[in-house]
Amino acid sequence: MDDSKIPNNVNLSSDKRLQRALEQWLPNYLHWWQEMGPDSWQGSDVYLRTAISVEADGWAHFDYVRMPEYRWGIFLTPPETGRTIGFGDHAGQPAWQEVPGEFRNMLRRIIVTQADTEPASVEQQRLLGAKAPSLYDLRNLFQVNVEEGRHLWAMVYLLHSHFGKDGREEAEALLERRSGDRDKPRILGAFNQPIENWLDFFMFTMFTDRDGKYQLFALSESGFDPLSRTCKFMITEEAHHMFVGETGVDRVVQRTADLMTKGDVVQQGGIPLEVIQRYINLWFSLSEDLFGGEISSNAADFFAAGLKGRYKEAQYQDHRALDVSYTMQVPDGSQLIDKQVPLRTAMNEVLRDGYVEDCQRAIDKWNRSLERAGLDEQLRLPHRRFHRQQGIYANQLFDVEGRPIDEATWRAHVDEWLPNAADRACVESVMHPVYERGKIANWVAPPAKGINGQPFDFEYVRRS
Ligand SMILES: [Fe+2]
Ligand SMILES: [Fe+2]
Repeated sequence: MDDSKIPNNVNLSSDKRLQRALEQWLPNYLHWWQEMGPDSWQGSDVYLRTAISVEADGWAHFDYVRMPEYRWGIFLTPPETGRTIGFGDHAGQPAWQEVPGEFRNMLRRIIVTQADTEPASVEQQRLLGAKAPSLYDLRNLFQVNVEEGRHLWAMVYLLHSHFGKDGREEAEALLERRSGDRDKPRILGAFNQPIENWLDFFMFTMFTDRDGKYQLFALSESGFDPLSRTCKFMITEEAHHMFVGETGVDRVVQRTADLMTKGDVVQQGGIPLEVIQRYINLWFSLSEDLFGGEISSNAADFFAAGLKGRYKEAQYQDHRALDVSYTMQVPDGSQLIDKQVPLRTAMNEVLRDGYVEDCQRAIDKWNRSLERAGLDEQLRLPHRRFHRQQGIYANQLFDVEGRPIDEATWRAHVDEWLPNAADRACVESVMHPVYERGKIANWVAPPAKGINGQPFDFEYVRRS
């Protein structure tokens, strides 16, 4: 066996045991991919990006590939000599190259939770190829799918190389859980939600992959150096996923705006702006839950241990975050009161703050598309307390402005706030596949440019 079976920059052939273990996992992975990966397109040639190294100026290679033959590999950014732990109780000490015994369980849990999201999203998206609005979009879907597969490889490498028998068992379990399954669901809520159509998909890559960005940045600060280096490289790929989501929603908004200036959007086969708004409300709130509880002893422990930092930890002066508090609005009966909580316990919320701001930036951008079309209508981000299933706001109802409301008010308005049955039917009714070169579905505008310098009408997918 040689390295070519599993492309890598970790000198895999020097560790025969690890190499053998991963080569045994490979057929199980491929079996999962065939069963749960994109439906119907496995024999088609897809113009895909493949990671081949971690060099900034040449890390990826574009060519036609059949997805089951994609070269899923293991790539870590190069080690930084003399790297030290950047935060928490061990700040300033040398970064760990091996798992510190006392934090083994915590670290395994962090890695498994991240790992589980990767195959989950592939499962959620497996039927979308049947309704793709263009070959360009179809290719982007498959690009995201194969890279989520590679992210699974990246995490499984850490489990196999650093966690012995339980790591191998966790790696198997990652192929056994199924998104949305009653008995063996994926770990986190948003990864069990159905992605039924391309509006869901654009919202998912916009909002849910963006949660991934913040989690990966926080983990790239980790004092456990192999995790840090793995996540740094994953961030490079993740940027494209968020691009697909952010520009995808923008293109739907542009098309809707264009149709609005001409007449009734539904009659012309488009997606009304208020439907887009309700999908934003849904996917933003589901994705916010992924950050975990606002006040969290786990988050404090992860930070104290030096395992999970903040987004770009270097932007802060104080890396210990002790004796500092964070002011949070906490439910108290039917009221909200300001409460000072120890900063370390608020680390999930600190990460979410950056996320909310980033999402607002995208909303502002979409609103500029509406303005350019000469429209006064605007999209908005719902309040972070709206429609939460996790954390301190989960047991109470809030409107889209974040005001506490009672059950009757919720029931009276929920169809204005979240996608209702008619919205789903409307979106479903416009999702006709378009597989002709250079053509695009009626409900979405074409992209400003193609992939890797290719034009929009390039043959991004050759049907088998
Ligand atoms: Fe990923
Ligand atoms: Fe992603």
